[in-house]
Amino acid sequence: MGKGIVVGAVGIILAGVVAAWIGISLGYAPANADAKPSSVERFIAMHALHAAIHRLAPKGPNPVASTDANVIDGIKLYAKNCAVCHGGAMGERSNIAEGLYQKPPQLAMDGVEDDPAGATYWKIAHGIRMTGMPAFDGTLSQEQIWKIALFLKRMNSLSPAAEKVWDKVEN
Ligand code: HEC
Repeated sequence: MGKGIVVGAVGIILAGVVAAWIGISLGYAPANADAKPSSVERFIAMHALHAAIHRLAPKGPNPVASTDANVIDGIKLYAKNCAVCHGGAMGERSNIAEGLYQKPPQLAMDGVEDDPAGATYWKIAHGIRMTGMPAFDGTLSQEQIWKIALFLKRMNSLSPAAEKVWDKVEN
């Protein structure tokens, strides 16, 4: 009796997997970027991201000194590597940002000042899977990534000199 239930359950699961595979092979699984992510997809992605950051992101403060020169270096690196997706000082979406699936937040409007520096460092270094967020650990140095994280943390409280540089950044 017990064995029959197990065999039946395995059969149902296998039939489900085969049906899903046939559906995917026939082109029924959504593969386009011009749609809104489903709530299930968003929940799984966000839950996985939070757990990974909790486990892997560096703890403790930003090792780069919070000087104006470092913040301005961070702004320049941001302008070159990030503004195309996350926007400049005006927070307007570029065509690239508009066409991505997950929409990148325009950080001037919807910033990450409240996030721990290590969490922002981790996202920039390793990217975010299944979104357009690239990993920069192969192309930027650790110091450069920390400088960008410093700028993002201080975006709401820039000195006049840094504000002047930031105001010129466009997407
Ligand atoms: C090609 C587009 C693209 C580029 C370039 C890009 N990002 Fe992203 N970024 C994204 C997308 C898409 C997301 C994910 C949004 C989501 O998860 O809903 C994201 C997420 C993030 C987040 C998390 C935001 C939050 O609210 O938690 C941070 C921080 C971030 N990016 C910083 C950067 C920085 C800094 C750079 C440059 C070094 C950069 N990104 C370059 C597309 C991009």
